[in-house]
Amino acid sequence: MMTAPSLRTLPAAYQEYARLRREMPVFHDAEADVWIVSRFDDVRTVLREHRHFSSCVLGQDSFEIRSPVDGSVLPAEETLLASDPPRHDALRMHVGRLFAPERLVACEAAARRELDRVIVQLVQGNRFEVVHDVCEPVVAAVMASVFGLDTCWRECVAQWLQVSGQCNARSRPASLKARFDAMLDDIWQAAEHCPDAGLGVFMAACHRGEVDARHVLDLTVTLLKGGADTTTYLVGNVLALLAEQPGLVSDIRRDPTLIPALIEASLRRDSPVQLTVRVTTADVELAGHRIPANSRVILLLGSANRDETVFGSEDEIHLDRREKSHLAFGAGPHRCPGVALARMQGGVIVQALMTRLPAFRLVPEHAREVGLRALCGFDRMDAEFLVRESNGATAGPAKNLLPASDYRNRQSER
Ligand code: HEM
Repeated sequence: MMTAPSLRTLPAAYQEYARLRREMPVFHDAEADVWIVSRFDDVRTVLREHRHFSSCVLGQDSFEIRSPVDGSVLPAEETLLASDPPRHDALRMHVGRLFAPERLVACEAAARRELDRVIVQLVQGNRFEVVHDVCEPVVAAVMASVFGLDTCWRECVAQWLQVSGQCNARSRPASLKARFDAMLDDIWQAAEHCPDAGLGVFMAACHRGEVDARHVLDLTVTLLKGGADTTTYLVGNVLALLAEQPGLVSDIRRDPTLIPALIEASLRRDSPVQLTVRVTTADVELAGHRIPANSRVILLLGSANRDETVFGSEDEIHLDRREKSHLAFGAGPHRCPGVALARMQGGVIVQALMTRLPAFRLVPEHAREVGLRALCGFDRMDAEFLVRESNGATAGPAKNLLPASDYRNRQSER
């Protein structure tokens, strides 16, 4: 039976967050020598105050990026993630161009096309795996579209996403560095042959001398890392939420226009990116605490988004209430540039699963949560169809992800 504890281990972390917010909202962990910030207002202040809280510590464990032109290495402070304004603004401007509204329309079309293909395959079997069978191919199709690459690059982009996802992981296979370097070679080739859209935008900036070849690679890799697993985690979290609160399934079934509200509620409640980090550039005061210069500050986005003084203490989700704006995508200069894309992708995938597939249930014993405190989501989530016609086809009304009570009834009917 699908209940919250069988799918999730996070509630323990959420209780710990609540204790931090209550008792020590700005806390110095002396052993690790880091400051931990857990309340909404304080987290948002730090994200916005780039002068006192620098991003220069981000991406420190990334592999180096070498120029395909002269072999020089890109210094960390020149990467998108680790740079601060004004240098950051200049890089970020190029990324923004990839997410212009007309590009998003093309990306949505790519997502829907890929979902059409995926769904035809899914309904031929008895069960499917949400991450591998649904999210990964759709995300690859969308990222290829973001980069302005046609379908012959799809397999390549899927591999880039896989390598980038592994770069985010704690334990990396020994072969990863070689695969990362091969990916950089591929990206450069793709960018050189790209028309105006996507990677062509970065190349045009390179030809104008606004960035160099290393930046073209860094911007692309950062997009891949940012988009690799986050949307997949979002989709898994939404499905887990529906399994935990079956009433929402009926709401969505009755009115699919509530899906964006469901996505937003999930993003806030189970934020795929649970934390980020900054370093102080001078002695600063935060909520009455003096934090010395050069201190690492961990910002608990997942805690800020559950701050009861902002969002109330009720754990139930009500889709008819407008969610207050949350910090799942960060804030300030580094706020996620993929916000609209993530919402669109998450929405079309959830909608397809809920309205175009026959009834299915998640298989809790085969759900695997990401084993990292910094991320929240599932890297495996199995589902099985509930009804089969005698001719072998799955059938029945779109009663997807049956609520526990429905599922219980159906079991006893068998
Ligand atoms: C549910 C999905 C997503 C979530 C929850 C998410 C969350 C975040 C957060 C919290 C940050 C800010 C980190 C910080 O300030 O330290 C960020 C940055 C970033 N995200 Fe996302 N993201 C998502 C999807 C995407 C997608 C789909 C892309 C690209 C296709 C993307 C690309 C990026 C990039 C490039 C940055 C770095 C921006 C910068 O440093 O200026 N993200 N994301």
